[in-house]
Amino acid sequence: MEKGIILMKNYLRFTMSGVGAVLVCVLVSQARAGWFSAKSEARYYSPCAVVASDDGNDVFVAEYSANQVVQADVVKGGLKRTIATKLPPSGLALDSRSGVLFVTLESNEGQVVLIDTRTGKLEARIAVGHTPLAPALSPDGKTLAVCNRFNNNVSLIDVPSRKESGRVAVSREPVAAAFSPDGRQLLIASHLPSMPANGDYSASVVTVIDPATRLVVTNLTLPNGSTGLRGLCVSPDGRYAYVTHTLGRYQLPTTQLERGWMNTSAISIIDLQGVKMLSTVLLDDVDLGAANPWGVACTTNGALLCVAQAGTHEVSVIDRNALHERLGRVAKGEKVGVSLSLEDVPNDLSFLVGIRQRVKLPGNGPRGLCLAGDLAVAGMYFSDNLAVVSLTTTPVVAREVSLGPKTPLSEERKGEMYFNDAAFCFQEWQSCASCHPDGRADALNWDLLNDGIGNPKNTKNMLLSVQTPPSMSLAVRADAAMGVRAGLKFIQFSMRPEEDALAIDAYLTKMKPVPSPYLEKGKLSKAARRGEKVFRKANCATCHSGSLYTDLQTHEMGMGQGMDKDKPFDTPTLVECWRTAPFLHDGRASTMKELFQEFNKDDVHGDTSKLSPRELDDLVEFVLSL
Ligand code: HEC
Ligand code: HEC
Repeated sequence: MEKGIILMKNYLRFTMSGVGAVLVCVLVSQARAGWFSAKSEARYYSPCAVVASDDGNDVFVAEYSANQVVQADVVKGGLKRTIATKLPPSGLALDSRSGVLFVTLESNEGQVVLIDTRTGKLEARIAVGHTPLAPALSPDGKTLAVCNRFNNNVSLIDVPSRKESGRVAVSREPVAAAFSPDGRQLLIASHLPSMPANGDYSASVVTVIDPATRLVVTNLTLPNGSTGLRGLCVSPDGRYAYVTHTLGRYQLPTTQLERGWMNTSAISIIDLQGVKMLSTVLLDDVDLGAANPWGVACTTNGALLCVAQAGTHEVSVIDRNALHERLGRVAKGEKVGVSLSLEDVPNDLSFLVGIRQRVKLPGNGPRGLCLAGDLAVAGMYFSDNLAVVSLTTTPVVAREVSLGPKTPLSEERKGEMYFNDAAFCFQEWQSCASCHPDGRADALNWDLLNDGIGNPKNTKNMLLSVQTPPSMSLAVRADAAMGVRAGLKFIQFSMRPEEDALAIDAYLTKMKPVPSPYLEKGKLSKAARRGEKVFRKANCATCHSGSLYTDLQTHEMGMGQGMDKDKPFDTPTLVECWRTAPFLHDGRASTMKELFQEFNKDDVHGDTSKLSPRELDDLVEFVLSL
């Protein structure tokens, strides 16, 4: 206890002196016995990102919930060092030559900090954008790319001068980045599709950037239904990039789960020489899904490709040469699995049979993944440990490395874990988070059965769903609690005890909004303040009323088409709608402006037709600021 107090004092001193600023390194045994355990609130670690030194001896772990980075000894077990970061660390990159660790810190005013791992000292702090993550270092160590998730751009940082040299606009929610080994290509994976959801094609993209000119070379569109992108890596020979994602079969009514009827899980492969998509391979087996693929990494000799499956708590270890040999054969028209051509591969649940091992990991929720020598190391987000897979033993085995004493899970944390767990689904095809990533929405339309077949609806954000009954666009559920229970039963085809549903309720109830990227220093911009007046003038507030911007009522405004014609729709909250495009129940409007310009010509949805162009822009700015 005394030690804890001394550390606390040191911590405050460093924090206030501005020398050590927010970073202070302490021996881990002391840290665990010190101020962290002295706090009454629950302390989880939530390891979300991991990175290893080139020699594999050091593994650094970003502990999102504990606001710290730890250096773990994955061979002997135990921790070597703890580095407090004050804000949640969201991503890591390491320059093994200089020993500098780059840590992105999550905030609406995000930062990257550079830490000298030899001394533990903070070298630099650089302001970047909203919710930075996935730092990637160029092979020459001179450029660091950082994804600013909610600014839809990438910061390029000149490492020698420790200055941001520019930003490159990319598609929606960049979440993963990697350089080619020659440093000439920078690849960025965008989490979500950015098109209307009621068309024939909806998929996210991978952007290829030329780091020298900072220009976008091309956007590679993934197969129809590709959403929830999470991980990206490039093979050591620079020939291929691999990106992990969910592949939604959203055009089918959600009547069953068998054989990947709703969501499948995939790696898409990019040919970096041709700068084009090569193929998309399913990670699922014919009767067992591989939900929520996340981190992906290639061994340095190029032999193995490892993929963390966050929903099924596994790592898939794929024989990479055999994979490309198979792809080469189908490309020539030979039959492999059930595929006769490359076009068949994204639907072939047997393509990896015999060339991939699914390794069960100790713990729950592998997200970040790295290779340390012959070991694959995954951060187990919900069970607060590392899983270490030895790739050289046959069969491949996994063991647990502790990150410290575990805190018992609160109802809310349990609920979040269940929401992300495909064990709650028949054959583990999907978790709730497959369609509601991070508790939000996948930007796809789904034809759920609760309101009939043939009227797909755009996935809804879970934020405030508890506080804003009724639920679903057509208000077919009285409240979110009913939606949760129906989701378990009719979407996941699973019978769960009531206590599991109660935990999910607790998670949904406590979800917090993320501040809009349209705010300036946390406040409405000038344009948004003008827009607030337009909001009242255009009568928006009659239905979008109160602090949650909904009257909790349904209205018939002529929005419904087909079998939804003349049906009243529930007034949705507008909080966080900056991140939930496309808009309206069928996702017909891909932007907020389009919602009024294209789909409100006769003023059924507020009085917008007579607004001046500037008034409309201001209105849009206001709504996107909520
Ligand atoms: C296959 C995709 C998919 C999966 C998986 C899924 N949902 Fe949904 N969810 C949707 C769609 C689409 C909507 C919007 C439906 C509508 O508006 O009629 C929705 C709406 C909801 C709502 C209502 C929100 C509101 O405010 O109206 C709740 C609550 C919900 N889902 C909870 C869950 C839970 C809990 C799970 C896991 C057990 C889950 N969902 C799994 C697609 C999915
Ligand atoms: C008569 C009640 C009513 C009025 C007036 C109204 N809305 Fe709505 N609003 C709704 C309903 C109901 C929906 C859902 C429609 C649907 O899903 O197709 C909706 C949907 C929206 C959405 C889409 C949200 C999403 O996540 O898809 C936005 C944004 C929005 N309204 C903003 C506004 C603005 C801005 C105004 C004023 C110009 C306005 N609304 C006026 C009832 C109203």
